[in-house]
Amino acid sequence: MSDDGGRLDRLTAMLRRRGVILPAFEIHGGVAGLYDFGPIGGKLRRNVKNIWLQHWAKHGDIVEIDSPTLTPEPVLIASGHVGEFNDYMSECKSCNSVFRSDHLLSDHHPNPDVLPPEELNSLLIKMGVTCPGCNQNDWLDARPMNLMFETKIGAMRGGRTAYMRPETAQGMFMLFPALYRHFRNRLPFGAVQTGKGYRNEISPRQGMIRLREFNMAELEYFIDPEVVPSHDFSKWNSMPFNLIPDPDTSSPVSMSIRDASEKGIIRHPTVAWFMGWTWDFLVAVGIDPNRIRFRQHEGTEMAHYASDCWDAEIEGSYGWIECVGIAHRGCYDLGAHENSTGNSSLKAWRPFQEPKSVDKTILAGNGAVIGPAFREKANAVNAALAELSNTNQEYPFQLTLDDGSEVTIEENMIEMKRVVATEHGEWFLPHVVEPAFGIDRIIWHILDHCYIETEKSGESYTLMQLPEFIAPVNVAILPLMEKDGLVEVADLLHRQICSISDVSSYYDGSGSIGRRYARADEVGVPWAITIDHQTLEDSTVTIRRRDDGLQMRIEMDLLQSKLATGSISELF
Ligand code: GLY
Repeated sequence: MSDDGGRLDRLTAMLRRRGVILPAFEIHGGVAGLYDFGPIGGKLRRNVKNIWLQHWAKHGDIVEIDSPTLTPEPVLIASGHVGEFNDYMSECKSCNSVFRSDHLLSDHHPNPDVLPPEELNSLLIKMGVTCPGCNQNDWLDARPMNLMFETKIGAMRGGRTAYMRPETAQGMFMLFPALYRHFRNRLPFGAVQTGKGYRNEISPRQGMIRLREFNMAELEYFIDPEVVPSHDFSKWNSMPFNLIPDPDTSSPVSMSIRDASEKGIIRHPTVAWFMGWTWDFLVAVGIDPNRIRFRQHEGTEMAHYASDCWDAEIEGSYGWIECVGIAHRGCYDLGAHENSTGNSSLKAWRPFQEPKSVDKTILAGNGAVIGPAFREKANAVNAALAELSNTNQEYPFQLTLDDGSEVTIEENMIEMKRVVATEHGEWFLPHVVEPAFGIDRIIWHILDHCYIETEKSGESYTLMQLPEFIAPVNVAILPLMEKDGLVEVADLLHRQICSISDVSSYYDGSGSIGRRYARADEVGVPWAITIDHQTLEDSTVTIRRRDDGLQMRIEMDLLQSKLATGSISELF
């Protein structure tokens, strides 16, 4: 932990006191891993999410979707989450307390969550790790615990098992056919989704870092694996990234993402490209660029669906923390859903440059049986049979005709035929590259990096130097005193500013003007507006800049038009 001199405690206390982030359900005792975003935090989260959505929307081939958080079990059996989405747990034989095995070993191994269960068991013994509950070193073998919250859709015995979604991604895979139609059957394209994800963490810790219900923002980008992408890396060429590749393949390096991609350190150019876009987003929302690094997962650490994954890690008061994962999911998910449902609509069409003549075996209808069996539909049945790519059918099977109707095909209706056919293209499963952002962790690090402790007139003073465009409150309206008609003018100005789209204001009339500036600075309000007696005469106010306290007088009308066009900083 890199906390110094109680800074982390002071920051956490301020966030709670000022209604930014605070423990949920506290008057009932609270629940670890559940947090509220309060009146300041709620707007901050909304701003960060909106900027994230705009960041991807501007690509032109990425659209937003929204799918249910409640997910029926078959979806998550197919995706591998029911079988594989586990943490290993160790139970103390002496007092029966249960802990995450990798957490018990965090002081004894640099990355214990990559270890298989046998190694977790032997390391617990070898290192003499004792139970935090009773101090004994006597552990049962580590066992997997599924991280999903299980529930039922429907009542009593008719209820179907379901889970609260562990990731938003599956909703986007389910929507692949609709996305494919939306983009007129052309890859590449992407879908983004923001919303809640759920993981039943056994021991949530480190405040906002490990939550049971959390805000996710994921992009699934569908590509043709046979097309070599030509991404423009030029804006990051002169910018070396801090890269920590899988230790089995390379040592830490500082190099441009284009070079890392060309040298094969980053295995797919689209993964490298999204690392660049991830960097841009993080820096834009206020993360210190010197405290970002990208770490590649080791083989044993990779999620069950991934063939390569780079985490964007951010350094803050809890050390280096994974905040974004950029995974190459291959065709794992679309293939898994196709296999488990038999539904073939998860494929894309790849046209050939030139039509190809292929010598192939097809299923042809036996005219003597098909004709009498299907009469006027016989031609449609023959056409649908000729289209079947799988000639190893189990009989009888259901055949879908062009008009959507289904017929049953028996073995005696079929003859295998060798034909020379002209093919214009082929169906294939698209691959997916996924940047997945943990919004709560990013918000935590924005606050951590922007929180400045300083001194003013010999007293400690705190400032939240949030970038102006994510600040939850844009202006503080401060009447110099709450009399002589100043309140009415201040209140009107406050309401007028609140009615400007995407601009928010708060009114603060209590305490000395210095205290009110301090309160605004503490939660990152970039502009404080003071209404005084001169305002009543000439409609001007004093505007004060948060970061250096510089002040000037400005007309109220001009203030409002500058706020509306987001150009207020041009005044200074
Ligand atoms: N979809 C990425 C994750 O679940 O972390």
